[in-house]
Amino acid sequence: MNLVEVVEGRTRLIVPQEEKLTKKNPVFYNPEMELSRDISIAVARILKPREFCDLLAGSGARGVRVAKEADIPTTMNDLNPGAVELMRKNCRLNGVECRITRLDANQLLANERFEFIDIDPFGPPGRFIDSALHSLKNKGILAVTATDTSALCGTYPKACRRKYDSVPLRTDYYNELGLRILIGFVARNALRHEFGIQPLFSHCTRHYFRTYLRVVRGGHRVNDTLKNLNFIQHCFSCLWRDYRGINELSQKCHCGGRLETAGPLWSGEFADKEFCHSLEEELMNSEFNRGSDAVKLSSLIGPEQNIVLPYYNIHKIFKKMRKPATPMPDIMRHLAEKGFDAERTHFSGLGLRTNAKISEIIEII
Ligand SMILES: C[S@@+](CC[C@H](N)C(=O)[O-])C[C@H]1O[C@@H](n2cnc3c(N)ncnc32)[C@H](O)[C@@H]1O
Repeated sequence: MNLVEVVEGRTRLIVPQEEKLTKKNPVFYNPEMELSRDISIAVARILKPREFCDLLAGSGARGVRVAKEADIPTTMNDLNPGAVELMRKNCRLNGVECRITRLDANQLLANERFEFIDIDPFGPPGRFIDSALHSLKNKGILAVTATDTSALCGTYPKACRRKYDSVPLRTDYYNELGLRILIGFVARNALRHEFGIQPLFSHCTRHYFRTYLRVVRGGHRVNDTLKNLNFIQHCFSCLWRDYRGINELSQKCHCGGRLETAGPLWSGEFADKEFCHSLEEELMNSEFNRGSDAVKLSSLIGPEQNIVLPYYNIHKIFKKMRKPATPMPDIMRHLAEKGFDAERTHFSGLGLRTNAKISEIIEII
């Protein structure tokens, strides 16, 4: 395996030169995930858990950084012996002592309890979620990555049903539905463990989704979680959409078009506004290579939570109206003048979040 040294944050890392996994190159390191790791370090610094478990640690890029840059006792685990060797090297290189295990992830979680568990798998996280919830302490944090975006976003609907027990829909806001299906899946699993969930921060970046959730025992949080598990109905004729409970689903839109349904999914806030604010401050004062991208992300995601209904793609609306597009700031100003909320979204540069109905947006345009 050819190795190179890279620097992320304040941490030096020895990683495989090749990104592609082969027999000769058996350990995984993806430089594109640096942004995700930068955010993890900031989250760990804010929350200061007593212990951090990097469940599928690979070269140890995330775990070593948490130990060094957030000063949190860290366990790193990976079944791959090559990965374990690299984790050891990276600990030595940075002068940090982490606990390193080479167990099947579910076996580690079956026998130990953690306050923060990070799940960063190849593809879907499904097969680790139940054990992670079994292992997590009350008020603990579960961080989950999913890279199988084509399943979650509706390109392969059967794969989504199989892996997430949910029906996706290829709408113009498909990536938001993907993230909501992922959170909904974790929430439904959490309920079986008598946990409710509180999303602290979630984002969709290029080829992956990532969510940080606090799991909390108690009737109040459990009931809140249940309330936020719903379906979405969408009309491809008039672009109307809304969340619906299972008993409120209908077949026909008020425009006469047919309503399509996706879900179950998470219909609540996918981040906590106050937490986004703390995250932004932490990221602004950081030494991260991808710090400014991360700040941009959290500064968009906080205000997005004012409107839980999925975003509108404004080009879709103009196309439907057969009109040339007006700049987004003008539309947002007109909506605000009429008393509606209007926000941008991190999901798309063409995305508009508003509490105005599609008919009201069209009228305003
Ligand atoms: C996407 S990589 C992790 C990347 C790493 N978190 C990072 O930031 O660089 C997934 C890792 O999970 C490990 N893995 C897959 N299945 C496992 C299992 N059942 N138990 C433990 N490790 C496993 C693989 O060896 C691989 O290193």
